[in-house]
Amino acid sequence: MKTFYITTPIYYPSGKYHIGSAYTTCLCDSVKKYKQLQNYDARFLTGNDEHGQKMAETAKNNGRTPQEHVDYMAELSKELWSTLNIDYDDFIRTTEDRHETVVQEIFEKLLANDDIYLGEYSGHYCVSCEAYFTDTQLIDDNICPDCGRETKILKEETYFLRLSKYANRLLKYIEENPDFIVPESRKNEVVQFIKSGLNDLSVSRTAFDWGVKVKSNPKHVVYVWIDALSNYITALGYGSKNDDLYQKYWVNGDEVVHVVGKDILRFHAIYWPIMLMALDLPLKFKLFAHGWYMMKDGKMSKSKGNVIYPEQLVDAYGLDAFRYYIVRELTYGHDGEFTPEDYIKRINTDLVNDYANLVSRTISMVNKYFDGHVKKVEHNHEYKKHELDLQNTSMSVFGNYQEAMDDFKMAEALSEISALVKRTNKLIDDTFPWDLAKDDSKKDVLESVMYHLLESIRLITILYQPFLLETTPKVFAGLNVEESKKTFGSFKFGEKTAYQVVKKLAHLFPRLDVEKESEKIKEMMDMNKPKEEKREFKMKSEIEYDDFSKLDLVVGHILDALAHPNADKLLVFDVDTGDKVRTIVSGIAKFYDPKDLIDKNVMVVANLKPVKLRGILSEGMILSSEDKDGNLKVIELNNELEPGDKIS
Ligand code: MSP
Repeated sequence: MKTFYITTPIYYPSGKYHIGSAYTTCLCDSVKKYKQLQNYDARFLTGNDEHGQKMAETAKNNGRTPQEHVDYMAELSKELWSTLNIDYDDFIRTTEDRHETVVQEIFEKLLANDDIYLGEYSGHYCVSCEAYFTDTQLIDDNICPDCGRETKILKEETYFLRLSKYANRLLKYIEENPDFIVPESRKNEVVQFIKSGLNDLSVSRTAFDWGVKVKSNPKHVVYVWIDALSNYITALGYGSKNDDLYQKYWVNGDEVVHVVGKDILRFHAIYWPIMLMALDLPLKFKLFAHGWYMMKDGKMSKSKGNVIYPEQLVDAYGLDAFRYYIVRELTYGHDGEFTPEDYIKRINTDLVNDYANLVSRTISMVNKYFDGHVKKVEHNHEYKKHELDLQNTSMSVFGNYQEAMDDFKMAEALSEISALVKRTNKLIDDTFPWDLAKDDSKKDVLESVMYHLLESIRLITILYQPFLLETTPKVFAGLNVEESKKTFGSFKFGEKTAYQVVKKLAHLFPRLDVEKESEKIKEMMDMNKPKEEKREFKMKSEIEYDDFSKLDLVVGHILDALAHPNADKLLVFDVDTGDKVRTIVSGIAKFYDPKDLIDKNVMVVANLKPVKLRGILSEGMILSSEDKDGNLKVIELNNELEPGDKIS
C-alpha cells in the first residue's frame, strides 16, 4: 500500500478558530479521505503552535498562565475538529515532551554541525511581527514591510541558522522538482525571494522564556519557527526511541504534503527545507499554498463584527453544508470572499436543487413505477444515446475529478461532480419518464432510464464521499448499495446490476430562504462582536502642551489617490492643504481601494519633515486610527471643513 502523509499548519491558539483555520483543516481531511478511496495508507496530522511571546501575552490578558491557556485552547480546538468530524490521526502540541526534547536535539545537532552559530544581532526589530528586517527589506529605512509599523533597533545575543549556505542547493532542488511548491505563482515568489539574497536567520530569543530552552545555553529559547516547523517530524517520532512512523511515512513514504496559507509560504518553502538539508534528512514534502477567506470589508476581525465561527454555521445548516461550502468556494490558490448570501445560495443550488432533488425524484419514481426494484436491462431503445452520453460523461468526470483532487483543486473537483449531477438530471428531461410510464410497451425503456439514474447517483455519491460525510451514507442506504460498490474500483456504469430502493429516503438538505437565512448569518456575525471590550495600551510618557503645539495639524482634501508604483503596501495621495497640493505617501494600501478615498477631508500633519518613501517624496502624514488587530482606518473629517483649516 502506498503511503500518504498530509499536514495542516499547527495553529496559534490565541483565540477561537474562525472559518479560515477550518478551511485548511477540512481541505486536508477531504484529501485524506480521497486518498483512502484510492487505497492509500493515509495519515493526517494537525495541532497547535503553543510557544512564543505573543502566546504568553494572550495568556496574561486572559488571566491564565501560558500553560493553562494552551491547555484550555487545545481542548477547544479538539472540540471544534470533532464538531467538524475531522479524522486526524495525531494532534501535536509544541509544549509536549515528545516535541520539546526533540527540538532541543535538533538545535544541538545544527549547532554541532556549525549550521547554527552564536552571534550578536543588531537590527531593526518589529515588535508586532516578532521579527528582524534587513535594511533592504524595510520601507523607508525603518518601517516594517509586513505590517507597516515602525521598527526599532535592537541588539541581542542570538543564534543564527546559516541560510545563505544552502541557497543554491535549494534553488537547484526547486528547479529539479517543479511540483515542490504549487501553485506555480507561489513557487516563483519563493525563487525570487531566494535570489534576492538570504540572510542568516536569527533562531533564538533571550527576551522571553515561553519556549523550548536551548539545551546548552538555556537563557535562549528556540525561535518559534524552528520549533514549529519541526512538528511535522517530531509527531512521527523522529529522534525518539520509536521512530517507526517517521520511517514509514517520511523516509520511506510515498507522498508527503504540507498544506499552508500563503502568509506562511516562505517559512515552509525556505526555512523548513534548509533545516532538513542541514540535518541531512530527506526533503520529502510537497507544498500547497492556498489563498485566504476574506470578508466584504477585508480581513476577518472580531472588532469589525465580521467573524463567523464554523460551529455557528454547522449548528444552523448542518455539517455537510459547511464542509462542502468551505472547500468549494475558494478557487485554487486564490483568495475568496465569504458572504452570507453566497453561503445559502451555494447550498441551495448544488446540494438542494441539484443533488438532493435528483436523489429524491429518482427514488420516488422507482417506487412509483417499479415498486422500488429495478435491474440492468439490455435494451436498444430510442433514448439509448442519452444514456450512453451519461455513461461517457461519468467516466470523463471521474478522470477530471481525480486530476483536480491530485492537484488540490477542490473547487474544480466539486464542480466536476456538479456537472455529472446536472447531466443526470438532464436524462429525466430528455426521456420524459412520466410519459413512458403511460405506455406499457415502454416498460423496458423506463426501467433502463431508472437504472441509469440510480447508477449515476451511485457514482456521484462515490465521488462526494470525501466531502459530504453525513449525506453520502444516507444516499447509499437509500439505494441499498453494498460496501464493495462504494469504491473507486467500482466506479463504472453497470457494476451494480440491480437496485432495491427504500420507500422513504432519509432527510438530506432542506431548501433555504436566501434572504431570511442570510440575515440570520449576519446576525450571528454581529453577535460575535465583542461587547464594549476594554482596551489596554501602553501609555507613552507625559508631554507638555508645548510639545503638542509643535504639530501643524490641518484639514487636507484628497484630490487624487493611486497605488504606489514600487510598493504594495503604500498609496500615493495628492492632498490640498490650503497652502499647496502636497504629495503624501501612506502605508494603508492593504485597507483601502485608493479611489474610495478621493474627495475625502482628512487630518494632515503638515510640518512633518518630507521624506522619500520608495522613491516618492512624501510631504506630510495623513492620520489614521488603528484597531486591536492592526487594521488602519483613515480619520475622515466633516466635508464642510476647508483645506488648510487648523486643527488643534
Ligand atoms: N503557527 C503558525 C503556523 C506554523 S506551521 C509550522 C501560524 N498559525 S496561524 O494560526 O496564524 O495560521 C494558521 C493557518 O491558518 C495559516 O496557514 C494561515 O494562512 C491560515 N489562515 C488564517 N486565516 C485565514 C483565512 N482567513 N483564510 C484561510 N486561511 C487562513 O501561522
